[in-house]
Amino acid sequence: MRATCHPRTLPPTLPLSLSPLCTLPLSTPVHHAVVRALHWNADSRTLRILDQRLLPAEVVERELRTIDEVEAAIQSLAVRGAPAIGVAAALGLVASFAREAVPSRVALRAAIDRLAQARPTAVNLSWAMARMRRVVESAVGGAPLLDALAAEAECLLAEDESMCAAIGRHGAALIADGARVMTHCNAGTLATSGIGTALAPVYAAVAAGRRVEVIACETRPLLQGSRITAWELDRAGIPVTVCTDSMAAALMRAGRVDLVLVGADRIAANGDVANKIGTYALAVAASHHGLPMYVAAPSSTIDAQTPDGAAIPIEQRAADEVRRLGDRQLAPATVAVHNPAFDVTPAALVTAIVTDAGIVRPPYHFTQ
Ligand code: MRU
Repeated sequence: MRATCHPRTLPPTLPLSLSPLCTLPLSTPVHHAVVRALHWNADSRTLRILDQRLLPAEVVERELRTIDEVEAAIQSLAVRGAPAIGVAAALGLVASFAREAVPSRVALRAAIDRLAQARPTAVNLSWAMARMRRVVESAVGGAPLLDALAAEAECLLAEDESMCAAIGRHGAALIADGARVMTHCNAGTLATSGIGTALAPVYAAVAAGRRVEVIACETRPLLQGSRITAWELDRAGIPVTVCTDSMAAALMRAGRVDLVLVGADRIAANGDVANKIGTYALAVAASHHGLPMYVAAPSSTIDAQTPDGAAIPIEQRAADEVRRLGDRQLAPATVAVHNPAFDVTPAALVTAIVTDAGIVRPPYHFTQ
């Protein structure tokens, strides 16, 4: 059964594949083979993810068969990025119950609640689980319920891809020929079901024939910038230079950055933006140097029910992510560390927010 998606214009069939490195074309003309974070087989209802913990050294896919495996993949960042974890949770829910003839509503509700809490900051996750919960409460039971859940999850996948393409179309206008774009963490193909959020305008500008260079901040402590963004862009043939997070302000001062473009995990009603830790520092530095600070995110990342950044829950992660790097001890094993996964950039430092609906400029006031 294929999804019937209501909110947006979507491709008639879902471009899905189980190939290890999917090379199917996405909705925006990108001149390279795109790597996908999620591979969904709609016929067998199986979900495979690219295990992002191993990049760039190894390109390994894993099938997620149970709620335990889906939750662990999200919490360990095997699958990551706000839009991707929402879609992965929805597809993973369906995959986990696919072999049950009559899925129990009680078990489905419990699984949805668990997955919704797997990571607290990215609102896409709880938003996607709320949509799946509505299906559980409204559809008839038995096999039709699983069909309805599969349809909704496939809808989420297709919508996300479509929103990424729209962000690319709108955001490309912000990227001039020759632009040097600084980004943080990874908000590209591997963080979404499509061509990304922050990287979507880059892909779209390159597809339009513009020369674009990306400076990828390495993004301590888990190095999504150097491990994932640099790998993704390098593979796409887009010039990318890695810098440590502590080099960003100096590069701005040296005149080597034209704009900053990042993703978001949650955008509050007043335009405050939660994104990967280090984003706030980039915003302060960009403001000091008179550089535009753009945020790109789909509608699913905007949380109009959260009034401002102070109300956004910030995920705190294990101390050893900072104290250790692989087998190496980087700090004494007993020393205390701070390890918030995200920070909040006040709306006053955000030049514009690129969404699938267009470019929004201050004053921000998002409503439902
Ligand atoms: O901890 P991560 O790797 O999931 O953090 C991801 C980010 O902070 C991204 O910038 C954000 O989710 C947007 S992804 C399109």
